[in-house]
Amino acid sequence: MERMLSGVKPTGRITLGNYIGAIKPFVSYQDEHEMFIFIANLHSMTVYQEPKELRQNTKDLIALYIAAGLDPEKVTLFLQSDVMEHSQLGWYLTCLSGMGELSRMTQYKDKVAKNETIGTGIFVYPTLMAADILIYNPKYVPVGDDQKQHVELARDLAERFNKRYSETFTIPEPVVRKVGSRIMDLQNPEKKMSKSDKSDKGCIYILDDINISKKKIMSAVTDSEGSIRFDPKNKPGISNLLEIYSTLSGKSIAELENQYQGVGYGTFKKELADLVGDELAKIQARYNEIIQGDYIDQILHEGAKKAKLIAAKTLAKVERKMGITIYKR
Ligand code: AMP
Ligand code: TRP
Repeated sequence: MERMLSGVKPTGRITLGNYIGAIKPFVSYQDEHEMFIFIANLHSMTVYQEPKELRQNTKDLIALYIAAGLDPEKVTLFLQSDVMEHSQLGWYLTCLSGMGELSRMTQYKDKVAKNETIGTGIFVYPTLMAADILIYNPKYVPVGDDQKQHVELARDLAERFNKRYSETFTIPEPVVRKVGSRIMDLQNPEKKMSKSDKSDKGCIYILDDINISKKKIMSAVTDSEGSIRFDPKNKPGISNLLEIYSTLSGKSIAELENQYQGVGYGTFKKELADLVGDELAKIQARYNEIIQGDYIDQILHEGAKKAKLIAAKTLAKVERKMGITIYKR
């Protein structure tokens, strides 16, 4: 089985966008890949996290992954901070990178353009992400489209290292899903659904009250054309709802267009609201079981042990090749 790895930051409450774009896909990959999924808590430190909230968000995220169907027997689930080798390799990769290429990362560039105060962490974050990936030599890295550029940097750094010191790292491939990788805000479908939004009318939270979430679907912005077809440019609202429907039901967009031919927006929304409600209810029930006791602690403990075994091996190899190591440890 080919190895696959991804990380998710434990920041903020988990949205339907996160669920569709970053949680659900993993469940479908777990049978065909050797998967590693970690909570990128070191990355979350690039902006201040209130400690109590960070603890809760981290726990919720792990619980939600499992509630969504990830099987800890199949997938190695762990906290980034539990495998310190990430940071150490991150430093070597920072030294291998240039100011120029890091300045070209869009996440950083956007902040510069908006004149925001920028912590140093934001600037070097992509090299830590490269280390997260390369230390496990995965073939595939599933990410949202906003993260593709970072995986490309990881590829560049891997190639640079391999060329300088000899073949060491696998060159990873980003995997960006076409459907569901950009769920839009329900009130403003030109914009990505995001937890960092001030108003949350357009954003559904996985652990929120189910009736509130259904209402948010019912009041989603659409258009006045009255036909249910996928056309993100001219019909961003309906297209977004179709995308949500498709990823949750497993039906293709074409199938849904067919099914809803001649049907009004109200009926369509009502059926989607029920679908979303049922999915949330299922997840929330499992979440409530998982969050009890020390089940999560055990999973994380086991996951870190497994991950560390591989990470330590890669790091030892890297340090040997670079001339850092001078004796057998
Ligand atoms: P973030 O919430 O921005 O930290 O993103 C965490 C993960 O969820 C990343 O893989 C994102 O690409 C994914 N994600 C966040 N928002 C959305 C969205 N609206 N649609 C699809 N994926 C998303
Ligand atoms: N930067 C990613 C995000 O913001 C999270 C992340 C950190 C990640 N390390 C990673 C994703 C390694 C994939 C692989 O969503």
